[in-house]
Amino acid sequence: MSIDYSEKIPNNVGLADNRTLQRALEHWQPAYLDWWADMGPEGSQNFDVYLRTAVSVEPNGWAHFDHVKMPDYRWGIFLTPPEAGRTIGFGAHKGEPAWQDVPGEHRANLRRLIVTQGDTEPASVEQQRHLGLTAPSLYDLRNLFQVNVEEGRHLWAMVYLLHAYFGRDGREEAEALLERRSGDADNPRILGAFNERTPDWLAFFMFTYFTDRDGKFQLCSLAESGFDPLARTTRFMLTEEAHHMFVGESGVGRIIQRTCEVMNQLKSDDPAQIRAAGVVDLPTIQRYLNFHFSVTMDLFGSDVSSNAATFYSTGLKGRFEEGKIADDHTLAGAAYPVLELRDGRLATVEAPALNALNEKLRDDFVRDSKAGIERWNRIIEKAGVPFRLKAPHKAFNRRIGPLSGARIDPDGNVVTEAAWNSSVAQWLPSEADRAFVASLMGRVAEPGKYANWIAPPARGINNQAADFAYVRFN
Ligand SMILES: [Fe+2]
Ligand SMILES: [Fe+2]
Repeated sequence: MSIDYSEKIPNNVGLADNRTLQRALEHWQPAYLDWWADMGPEGSQNFDVYLRTAVSVEPNGWAHFDHVKMPDYRWGIFLTPPEAGRTIGFGAHKGEPAWQDVPGEHRANLRRLIVTQGDTEPASVEQQRHLGLTAPSLYDLRNLFQVNVEEGRHLWAMVYLLHAYFGRDGREEAEALLERRSGDADNPRILGAFNERTPDWLAFFMFTYFTDRDGKFQLCSLAESGFDPLARTTRFMLTEEAHHMFVGESGVGRIIQRTCEVMNQLKSDDPAQIRAAGVVDLPTIQRYLNFHFSVTMDLFGSDVSSNAATFYSTGLKGRFEEGKIADDHTLAGAAYPVLELRDGRLATVEAPALNALNEKLRDDFVRDSKAGIERWNRIIEKAGVPFRLKAPHKAFNRRIGPLSGARIDPDGNVVTEAAWNSSVAQWLPSEADRAFVASLMGRVAEPGKYANWIAPPARGINNQAADFAYVRFN
């Protein structure tokens, strides 16, 4: 299962033995590189970036670090090794051998799952393409680019499945993945959050904390799939995803740390004074958190969904950590609580567990997200600042599902349109908030130096020295 880097497309799937597939992917490769040149990180084509590249597919010790030009990054196809005798862990096919090929009757649904996942990968690169121009340090610039090349590789992962298992439809979908554009009015990306702008670095860190975490939960569910190639490719993607969430959590944490330092120096919690000192006030950080949290909530889809039920019963998409759940893994007759609007209030009702799988995954995500928010709160607490960040209610600011029909505040109270309008500036970033954060942005390109609004990281990437040149401009 070792990775073959002598090939045009590095891989551990024996591509050289399948000439038809190899030719098809070699045909897609230049289109991918054109897309990267057009929509990848702006102005970065000649930079030497200290990137990690996969050298093995084992969970530990797969990374090799070196300076490379991003267009020369070795995007490739890496699957975790097959598990001998793997069986399907849930649904109607529970206990049967995992599929090595696409079962005809599930073909359309499987393709839809792969395309929807695949579409998010290039979308985030497009959303983040201007951020390099305003990176607060070389360390952060490198992390942005690392995330971007790996999202590019995630696209490769899904395109490999489309080409290898879906014939002509798959090749057409692979082309369409390079044609949609984040935020485009005529040909947008499939999911809402992936058409939002990522205009500044606070938004970037919130995005990698919350939205890449949605990626983690979706990939974990697909890693349970009865379609073995999908399970194996998403397992390897998860090892890369962990770094993206680290970038988000540590990035927000460093902004908080710097803000608290300034608050203590000024002995003030007045946002105007904090802003005048050139750092982001904590209430603004809370509003960004509320925005990215709520937009990410919608990515899990409708609370009650017959598609989710079908994906599960047919063995295509499992639950988060399916193997650790002690039940019959078919969900026959089981119930799960979901929220509904009843007489102008939120009410908890029981839905068939099979139909409430989106809601269950959303709840798993909320638990995981809150743990990191508590780690941010410990930074604030340690600084002696009496302020706490909080995840908004999961019904807050929803655009998808039955809860999108009402105005719901961050505490989960249904409010009138007038009350919403008079308070929304306290709950979500206003144009003025965004303009203020934008005013702080500006590229810091000297090794070891950081913008005033963010603290340096606790340690360097791959334990490099504090003044290491993570990016060399040419
Ligand atoms: Fe990804
Ligand atoms: Fe990611």
